[in-house]
Amino acid sequence: MTSANPRVGLIGLAVMGKNLALNIADHGFDIAVFNRTTSVMDEFIKENPGTPGQLVGCQSLKEFVAAIARPRVIIVLVKAGPAVDSIVQQLIEAGLDADDIVVDAGNSLWTDTIRREKDYAGKLKFFGSGVSGGELGARFGPSLMPGGDPKSWKHLEPIWTAIAAKVDARTGQPIPGAEPGKPVQGGVPCTAYLGPNGAGHYVKMVHNGIEYVDMQLISEAYFLLRSLLGLKPDELAEIFSDWNQTELDSYLIEITADVLRQKDPRNKKKFLVDVILDAAGQKGTGKWTASNALDMGIPANSIAEAVFARCMSAIKGERLIASKKLRGPVIKKLRAGKAVVEAIRQALYCSKICAYAQGFQLMREAQKEYNWKLDFGSIASIWRGGCIIRAKFLQKITDAYQTNPQLVNLLMDPYFRRQIQNGQDDWRKVVTLAANNGIPAPAFMSALAYYDAYRCAVLPANLIQAQRDYFGAHTYERVDSPSGQFFHVDWPAENRPEIKA
Ligand code: 6PG
Repeated sequence: MTSANPRVGLIGLAVMGKNLALNIADHGFDIAVFNRTTSVMDEFIKENPGTPGQLVGCQSLKEFVAAIARPRVIIVLVKAGPAVDSIVQQLIEAGLDADDIVVDAGNSLWTDTIRREKDYAGKLKFFGSGVSGGELGARFGPSLMPGGDPKSWKHLEPIWTAIAAKVDARTGQPIPGAEPGKPVQGGVPCTAYLGPNGAGHYVKMVHNGIEYVDMQLISEAYFLLRSLLGLKPDELAEIFSDWNQTELDSYLIEITADVLRQKDPRNKKKFLVDVILDAAGQKGTGKWTASNALDMGIPANSIAEAVFARCMSAIKGERLIASKKLRGPVIKKLRAGKAVVEAIRQALYCSKICAYAQGFQLMREAQKEYNWKLDFGSIASIWRGGCIIRAKFLQKITDAYQTNPQLVNLLMDPYFRRQIQNGQDDWRKVVTLAANNGIPAPAFMSALAYYDAYRCAVLPANLIQAQRDYFGAHTYERVDSPSGQFFHVDWPAENRPEIKA
């Protein structure tokens, strides 16, 4: 007989679910747990005796629902997609009440969350939350991006606030030192209520879109350093470690240094990175971000480019054949100079600023579309710790939006304007070096194109409008007439080329 009195339950004991459950228990919350394969749950309970909050293993969903006090807060960590609806349906059958809260903590598509909130209204309160930070984040402090009914949030808030990563209130830097059973004390939690229905999952999706660009930019920097300077992985690791002491200080730069130092377990003379196939996988959140940018008409070209770069990497067989047939310049090796390394660092930093600018532009547009009131300062602040894109410069983004919540584009913030001003000569040199040597650097290049296009008062779209009007009478606006007034010219009929020439 257990003395536990759980108010919260968790379904889905894969590694993220197990770690999140342990994190919750570490903070003194009794928690009921259920897994479809019950032997996994039995093993989990056996392996984790004596947590500060008790883990209550349940053999069936009926038992699980009965074990939790009302209103129940049930965290679901199953594969995004139909599995979520299936488990919610089973929970309803197992006796959930209308005021019970089901928190989908997977990487669900935000429109599914909006739909589910409506579909299940009256049967339960469906709530969505992004969870970032991978296995370790889930265990010792993730960044949590909740969205849904504000009344439901009140029930989830104490748990989410307790288990989230914490950052120093003054510096915004993550507070280290969490250990099993010894949660971090003090600090600001990396979670905040983001808005109704799909807002949390939308923000998590954009987080992932930015994550894709961040990773692509780092890999391009690695590739340029390697190709131009002929450095070995452990030498490159030193460079990334040094960069981690600069504005680039972030989780992804830090792990890159670790990754580059890692030896191949099969052959200790080799570096692991050299035996990993250059074909990147993806589960779809980057693609969702890029295709949503297309749907909303927001230029998020670096995010899209990062997704396409993964697609390009994946067609390895074709690339192998093309590499033997398609010619380009021979790479001219450079002397390992500090100046080149610094230029590549600046290119990475400037491109990264553009990627974040694009991500925040997307959220700005989405909030209009869905009638949300996103607080961009708060979003940047909850990404300062716990998540994959956590970075020191998120404090600067937090400051930018706190100073000016109406900021139209991050590039217009005085701090970031100065940063790009400072780095752009190097950025341009690096993009030129990449082009001249035939080294692919699509994210560096597209970020620079974004920057240059955004700061361009006149783009060549006048010519596009003229062409559209020529072949399709699509009309155009004039620079010397009020906006919204459309014109068409009767293009000369003689000598008009035939489409089928
Ligand atoms: C996180 C990550 C996490 C996961 C992505 C990666 O924030 O913890 O974003 O959600 O790593 O799903 O997805 P890909 O397989 O598409 O790279």
